[in-house]
Amino acid sequence: MRPLVILISGAGSNMQAIVRAAETGRWHERYRAAVARVISNRPDARGLAWAAEQGMPTAVVDHRAFPSREAFDAALAQTIDEVDPAGRALVILAGFMRILTPGFVQRYEGRIVNIHPSLLPAFPGLHTHQRAIEAGCRFGGATVHRVTAELDHGEYLEQAVVPILPGDTPDTLAARVLTQEHLIYPRAIERLLAAG
Ligand code: GRF
Repeated sequence: MRPLVILISGAGSNMQAIVRAAETGRWHERYRAAVARVISNRPDARGLAWAAEQGMPTAVVDHRAFPSREAFDAALAQTIDEVDPAGRALVILAGFMRILTPGFVQRYEGRIVNIHPSLLPAFPGLHTHQRAIEAGCRFGGATVHRVTAELDHGEYLEQAVVPILPGDTPDTLAARVLTQEHLIYPRAIERLLAAG
């Protein structure tokens, strides 16, 4: 079975979309893939409670308990590798709000993916919706990409575009983009699984 390891920090709505897609699309049978662990760096992440309610295996690696990024990433890698003896897990960042060290990214190179709420290469980093509105963009969106050592770079696997409407605030735009994230993230993952 190919392990899917989902990393979250917050609400986990992308994680929920992926879990639902895995169920309805029978990823278990079709790709021999299953969620092996949901890991949060925040003990109070809403998504963690949801995952636990579903009976999914969860873990917390609280970044505040570690003296450095390297120490946190080492603990995170150990928590992933525990459920991935063969080193084949797909590592799925779903609203995971920590910058990862190059060493961590290299360890999972080629099998670690992220979703970013902008049309990359525009607006890497934080506050994407506010920046897109302030820049006068007519369109915003989201990008699923492979993760490389450089923040919000790496091969684009899927993108979705939404209009930016007069009167939009960062919150209204974020909500519009999020509905599309829930479509493109499961689709991108399914394509990767199908490719083997
Ligand atoms: C999403 O907009 C994602 O693109 C961004 O953080 C948000 C997380 O939402 N990185 P959720 O936790 O998946 O609900």
